[in-house]
Amino acid sequence: MHIEFDPFSTHLGANPYPLYRELREQGPVHHAMPSDIHCVTRYEETRLVLSQPELFSSRAMETVFAKGRNFNFKTRHVIDVMRFLWRVRGSFFGLRQAGSIITLDPPRHGELRSIVNRGFTPKQIAAWEPWIREIVVDEIGDKLQTAGDFDAIRDLAIPLPTRVIMQLLGVEKSRRSDFKRWSDSIISGISGPGRHNPVELGILDSMAELMLFLGETIRERRATPGEDLISLLVDPDKGHALADAEAIQFVVLLLVAGNETTTNLIGNGINALYDHPDQLALLLEDASRMDGFIEESLRFDPPIQIVFRRATRDTQIAGVPIPKGAYVAPMLACANRDDRKFPEGDRFNILRDTTGHFGFGFGLHFCLGSALARLQARLAFEAILPHLGRLKRRDDVPAIIDSFLVRGRSTLVLQDTAPV
Ligand code: HEM
Repeated sequence: MHIEFDPFSTHLGANPYPLYRELREQGPVHHAMPSDIHCVTRYEETRLVLSQPELFSSRAMETVFAKGRNFNFKTRHVIDVMRFLWRVRGSFFGLRQAGSIITLDPPRHGELRSIVNRGFTPKQIAAWEPWIREIVVDEIGDKLQTAGDFDAIRDLAIPLPTRVIMQLLGVEKSRRSDFKRWSDSIISGISGPGRHNPVELGILDSMAELMLFLGETIRERRATPGEDLISLLVDPDKGHALADAEAIQFVVLLLVAGNETTTNLIGNGINALYDHPDQLALLLEDASRMDGFIEESLRFDPPIQIVFRRATRDTQIAGVPIPKGAYVAPMLACANRDDRKFPEGDRFNILRDTTGHFGFGFGLHFCLGSALARLQARLAFEAILPHLGRLKRRDDVPAIIDSFLVRGRSTLVLQDTAPV
């Protein structure tokens, strides 16, 4: 039986996992006809693809998003595009040439990674815990004490990572709504409705504003370095430094890779506890199960569902021929449920061994911000968990965000059940 599956579809519904199971059962590689992409469904084959960057290039992470776009482009948009190019004229070509770390292959990837690693050492991240905890407390305020609705997405999962990244970059608080708008725009432009309509949905304007803002900020930090991440990455006294275009690309990636993902780890984790009250009971019984719960959330319902690679020469995956230049999509979320690696893969079990899950990817491009994301999630869960027994989830199946790449809930309203 042929299964209809398009990795660019944003209509997989509230629960894509039964479809993923069918795909895995049918074989390790599913050739998705509509977009001509070879989707890798099982654990072992996904690991093999991600561990061979010389054969499966990450350049795809830049070019694949142009596929399957259905540009709703009108003549009147020409002026907007010209205005965009004019606004970013100083940096546009430099940015294209610099490339983002997530799209680079060795050896350039390794050179860049060793520079940006210095902003994310385990020691630094552990030292950030007190101020991240303060942000959690500040955002929640007394919202959980009062009898109103608490939207775990709107009231905590969204503002927390945005504020954390802004603080890391040394950007003042007044820019908060701009930052959120910019990162939403990029995600929408890559994988949501903005893919087809970048002009009318304001994606180009947001991109121009962000690039101009970052260009200006980087120039300021070079002149007057501070204690922030940008100053650290552009400072030649600390060893190799990033050029302006590289620094802009990196900060844009942090907004994309660090915001929405962390939001959805928090949202998906809380949602899984409501779907599995027995697991909530296990967690409430013993707080030392927190790390297991976070890892299981990343395995069971990961914020990043899929990544893309491109074959550098004719090859094969589990005997399936893959021609040179073909796009290959390791389906992280699908492989994470493979029973061959994780017995009873469709079961949410916070006590299981989750070693090797693909929630943060695998290999050279393994998530740079994994420790930061885990820390934010832990602090958010610790703050909310004591209240979950009292709060009821308003919608049994909360609405899903509109993206084929990132999976999460757009709202997660928790209502007080105690008498007022
Ligand atoms: C729960 C939250 C997060 C998830 C699920 C996540 C997921 C991922 C995944 C799957 C990749 C690999 C992409 C690939 O192989 O092509 C990745 C890479 C990356 N992530 Fe994350 N991420 C999260 C949070 C963060 C945070 C908080 C930051 C930084 C502030 C961050 C920065 C990056 C960067 C820079 C890369 C590229 C690394 C490279 O190419 O060497 N991520 N992330």
